[in-house]
Amino acid sequence: MRQALVAGNWKMHGSRASVASLLSELLGAVTAQQVEVAVCPTFVHLAQALELCVGSPLAVGAQDCSHMPSGAYTGEVAAPMLADLGCACVILGHSERRQYHTESDHLVAAKLTAAVSAGLQPILCVGETREQRESGAAELVVLGQLTGALAEQTDLAGLVVAYEPVWAIGTGLTATPQQAQEMHAYIRRCLDAFDTVDARATRVVYGGSVKPGNARDLFAQPDIDGALVGGAALIAADFLAIIDAAAAV
Ligand code: PGA
Repeated sequence: MRQALVAGNWKMHGSRASVASLLSELLGAVTAQQVEVAVCPTFVHLAQALELCVGSPLAVGAQDCSHMPSGAYTGEVAAPMLADLGCACVILGHSERRQYHTESDHLVAAKLTAAVSAGLQPILCVGETREQRESGAAELVVLGQLTGALAEQTDLAGLVVAYEPVWAIGTGLTATPQQAQEMHAYIRRCLDAFDTVDARATRVVYGGSVKPGNARDLFAQPDIDGALVGGAALIAADFLAIIDAAAAV
């Protein structure tokens, strides 16, 4: 039995005031339950979030990390720094990083190694664009991203995969529960090919316009183990409703 994970990707949003008010609403409502909950604010809000969440069931993670453990990499944040601060997890290979920062599978693989070595739980994002889906290449693209990131890894015990079809992110379009389930089952079959991964124990979460109104049907699918939530994670009531939907499965 895999424990559901609902993680909020706050992207480049927030101020000290909004972080304090969003977290106070979440902390007042999230109880230790069968769903694991994490929030991923920007780097500059991590310390504040960690302080507010200490001793609570809310885990805090980062949205990215460097592929190097330390050194002359201006502007970068290393995985050991995030672990030292108290972060539990880190999102890697998000499509916005692949798109706007030209992150390759090779770089994502190096970041994954860095995150795991630092003791962070990696949330590896994969997903196809609309053109790739329409041309029938969705599975091939996802397989390439998985292979590129995972092939050289030696330790993937805590891996989480987030299937995030690019055409569904921030667009209001969601993969149907059936479309998502098909891809999640495919991802699990792909994971099974890696000796380093226990495919049945690995959580595969869905991301892309997850809202209170569609969360329940998505979570009802046997291979959907939670969600990586963008826009709706910034609205406490919506994020809490998504957590409740995961708990109700
Ligand atoms: P969205 O973003 O929920 O706003 O579509 C999801 C994500 O990018 O992780």
